[in-house]
Amino acid sequence: MTGAREILPPRGKLGVLMPGMGAVATTFIAGVELIKKGLAKPIGSLTQLGTIRLGKRTKSRVPKIKEFVPLAELHELDFGGWDAFPDDAYEAAALAGVLEKEHLNAVREELKRIKPFKAVFDPRYVARIKATHTKSFASSREAAEQLREDIRSFKQEHGLSRVVMVNCASTEAYIQPQKAHFSLEDFEAALERSDPSISPSMIYAYAALMEGVPYANGAPSLAADIPALVELADEQGVPVVGKDFKTGQTLIKTIMAPGLKARTLGLEGWYSTNILGNRDGEVLNDEKSLKSKEVSKLSVLEHILQPELYPDLYDKISHVVKINYYPPRGDSKEGWDNLDIFGWLGYPMQIKINFLARDSILAAPIVLDLALFLDVAERARMGGIQEWLSFYFKSPMTLPELYPEHDLFIQQMKLKNTLRAIMGEELITHLGLDYYE
Ligand SMILES: NC(=O)c1ccc[n+]([C@@H]2O[C@H](COP(=O)([O-])OP(=O)(O)OC[C@H]3O[C@@H](n4cnc5c(N)ncnc54)[C@H](O)[C@@H]3O)[C@@H](O)[C@H]2O)c1
Repeated sequence: MTGAREILPPRGKLGVLMPGMGAVATTFIAGVELIKKGLAKPIGSLTQLGTIRLGKRTKSRVPKIKEFVPLAELHELDFGGWDAFPDDAYEAAALAGVLEKEHLNAVREELKRIKPFKAVFDPRYVARIKATHTKSFASSREAAEQLREDIRSFKQEHGLSRVVMVNCASTEAYIQPQKAHFSLEDFEAALERSDPSISPSMIYAYAALMEGVPYANGAPSLAADIPALVELADEQGVPVVGKDFKTGQTLIKTIMAPGLKARTLGLEGWYSTNILGNRDGEVLNDEKSLKSKEVSKLSVLEHILQPELYPDLYDKISHVVKINYYPPRGDSKEGWDNLDIFGWLGYPMQIKINFLARDSILAAPIVLDLALFLDVAERARMGGIQEWLSFYFKSPMTLPELYPEHDLFIQQMKLKNTLRAIMGEELITHLGLDYYE
């Protein structure tokens, strides 16, 4: 046994606030409401369906994660957020076209009640949206103040004891970290003068952290993953994690690549292409937003395959990722992957993967898990970067001196061992020699 952390019990209601109430956010909210009514099952959610082995394999102690860790219950969740359009969650979900009418109508009342706050929006960061529901402010600092006020009033009006924020807003234009991002002092000065390097996503993240609200970034936009905001999260002792939900193609990539490496099979090239037709796809049709997504998708292979350690296998990989906006597909994305691999004596082979995915169906359970795990992290007083939640992200946040872990199986072990550690259970190494001695 290791020492358990003290975790405050999940008393009262938990609010989940989402900047961006589009396809992912509304599929998540509608899903939770359907599950609460017993009309659907939480498929894809580790917190709801996953189990965790405790102790020796001979002991058969395998509780559900939600029975092992003091997570908030689904009926204690409440939802809200911000959007650049005034549609309520029912209208937004209908527009997103992810869920069937029958599902939406079963939770119509619950969704109708959820109306977004006006967004902090900047067309320089999201060019493809003609926003109609936005705040006016004299400076970016004032924008942050207004968001903080929204958080406080949401909490009060809904009688919540805790709130978490999960960013589900459109992908913003790609930017590199720059001077205003490197220290909290510089960041706050930049907020004051409305420096163009401060994006709306950063303002939401800043507002959350200032309010002591744990923050997750589901988009590939640069947000809490800048030194200034990590400094703020550490200072405030608030959990922070990101970025870019790991769903379709990248999920498959981080399942496949560790397998090839485990068998020391070589890789010459990996060509990935996608077609998608939802609003996310439309936003990504802008070159600058597309760059954020492509950078996020490209980083995984190199980290998993470690060409510097395996020059014979992964020295010259051609890794190409393409995303194409194709309206007829809506939220049903199609991804094609071609892998040129090689085996014994260098003989070439190919693997083809054709994934007909549903983007928001894959992302919604991630929003749920992140909200529940961030809340537990907050109650366990685990401030700063939550690397153990890398499992859910394409570009996991880490300390600058650490490389991110992309291998889904290492990420899963890290997550489950973190749960064991905070609950004071033995960590599992999968050694197993002791059974045979
Ligand atoms: N669905 C997936 O599988 C998946 C995976 C990884 C990441 N993501 C990311 O999640 C985000 C949401 O995806 P989606 O499919 O729901 O997109 P969506 O276009 O349906 O929803 C995004 C919403 O954000 C709103 N918005 C834009 N700028 C805003 C701002 N400044 N403040 C508040 N709202 C704002 C838009 O009006 C829109 O309603 C995107 O960034 C996407 O790249 C999605």
